[in-house]
Amino acid sequence: MCGIVGYIGKHTASSILLAGLEKLEYRGYDSAGITLVNDRTLQTRKFAGRLERLVNNINKQPIEGTIGIGHTRWATHGEPTDNNAHPHLNNKQTIAVVHNGIIENYLSLKNFLIEQGYTFYSETDTEVISNLIDYYYENELLAAVKKAVKQLKGAYALEIVSSKHPDEMIAVRYESPLVLGIGEDGYYLASDIPAILNYTKSVIYLENGDIVRLTKNNYQIYNHKQSLVKREIKEVSWDIEAASKEGFDHFMLKEIYQQPEAIRNTIERRLDETGRIQLNEINFTKAEINAIDKVYIVACGTAYHAGLVGKQVLKNALQVEVIADIGSEFRYSDPFIDQNTLVIIVSQSGETADTLASLREAKSKGARILSITNVVGSSIARESDHLLYTWAGPEIAVASTKAYTTQLVAFYLLGLYLGRLKETIADNTYQARLNELKSIAKSVEHVIENSIEPAKAIAEKIIDCNSLFYLGRGLDYYSALEASLKLKELSYIHAEAFAAGELKHGTIALIEAGTPVIVIATQSKTYDKTISNIKSVKARGAYVIGITTSDHKDIEQVCDKAIYIDNKQDIYMPIISVILPQLIAYYTSIFKGNDVDKPRNLAKSVTVE
Ligand code: F6R
Repeated sequence: MCGIVGYIGKHTASSILLAGLEKLEYRGYDSAGITLVNDRTLQTRKFAGRLERLVNNINKQPIEGTIGIGHTRWATHGEPTDNNAHPHLNNKQTIAVVHNGIIENYLSLKNFLIEQGYTFYSETDTEVISNLIDYYYENELLAAVKKAVKQLKGAYALEIVSSKHPDEMIAVRYESPLVLGIGEDGYYLASDIPAILNYTKSVIYLENGDIVRLTKNNYQIYNHKQSLVKREIKEVSWDIEAASKEGFDHFMLKEIYQQPEAIRNTIERRLDETGRIQLNEINFTKAEINAIDKVYIVACGTAYHAGLVGKQVLKNALQVEVIADIGSEFRYSDPFIDQNTLVIIVSQSGETADTLASLREAKSKGARILSITNVVGSSIARESDHLLYTWAGPEIAVASTKAYTTQLVAFYLLGLYLGRLKETIADNTYQARLNELKSIAKSVEHVIENSIEPAKAIAEKIIDCNSLFYLGRGLDYYSALEASLKLKELSYIHAEAFAAGELKHGTIALIEAGTPVIVIATQSKTYDKTISNIKSVKARGAYVIGITTSDHKDIEQVCDKAIYIDNKQDIYMPIISVILPQLIAYYTSIFKGNDVDKPRNLAKSVTVE
């Protein structure tokens, strides 16, 4: 949800900023802009649309300067126009600000500033910040920023430069991510590591409330109490190859292919020398786990779909009530939470605003928080009592794939581990399930290879349809939800998922001759019932594609097309059955000429509520 980047040092800033913005474009691509400080003036270029427009402009007319800030936008306040693009300057054109986040009280601040004689030229909340800093400015940029941020409510990662301070940059982090890179020839700032990884692997994950003052040779960090603090410098353990396409046409395809490796990493780091699961990151005693009488799983979008599968896994493992809810609803649903409630937070980015707010709400009510996240040092990771990282590596494509399958793996590991601790899972069941889990990566590899051609053929078939339905029952329904979300966000085709048994209560009215219906039927408990549901949509003229396991060849009698996937224990089928839908969504998007890695209106990390 917007990406910001900054550089202060010995090199030309514009190329560093543009390269950084390219790596951050997944966070928003409605507009892009930079400001450089040059010869005591601010030189700003900003354009609506993709970064390419800015790059072309800078290539034609380069800007000099070794200090600069940059922004790539996901529009919240105001349409994607040149005027609303960041950076935003104060009226005197002496202070430039880039901002990732949202200022909730911007209207009252704006009205206050208008009363003081300020004029606003954009519809953004950010323009308030540059003018507010100006309002407090009395020869010291840092002091003015400190006063201004005290007035801000909401979420903000900020970078600020001023023509009156040509050797200085100020950055602020509050509720939106910001890392400081320590390089040999300067300092880097970015919303996310890939933007600076070409230049340095030494980073400081700034804390909430931190304000940083940077010069070419030095930096000082002030904490939320405005005291000078030292923060640990950490080494990033992965390199730039992990954040590049490495020969694949798109990040999404690369990430689909990376799933077997990501799954292996997520499992193997948790096996002890005897091959049993050891979750060192979580530290429940048997008494503590026995005391838990309710589990909430809270997440958004794809992570929520992983949470739905997790609900089933943990219900089975812990034999207590497990409720899955979406982040934007959870807080407002008056959940019954006390110290015996375990709240599991699932988030690839670890920064999703609704999910983070839910975490805080649950914590304030006394729940224990266990998070499943992919981003080391993210806000969610930092604020949790227990933490399970998915070792998926950086996920750059906006549509989540490998993060989802590794989130499922994290739930499987958790279920087995806690079930054994609580002794609700017998040791022989544990062994059998764990052995099967260890073989999942191989099956995913196999399913990917076998799914490419069917996915292309299905994509050709559905490319012009107006509406498509995914059906399934139980765990297959959760996979259907994820499958339809992938198709919607990438192909822009209206796709809906339904519990196959629920269709007859209304939705079946939408089925007409040729309507594509993709049915996921892998669960033995409900397979026969699903076949009956297929028959009823077939009878209304639907074109039915069945996805099932190879022992269910009878599906051919009721479907127009059947696709067979590897057979695993029912509980693990969501990992196997989601692969083909991921590829269907990918190829439909490609065949339609869409930007598969950056679908319209979306951003990777949603840091607004
Ligand atoms: C869809 C997708 C989103 C995210 C959701 C939560 O492909 O990626 O639905 O799953 O925005 O994001 P995280 O997991 O970062 O909290």
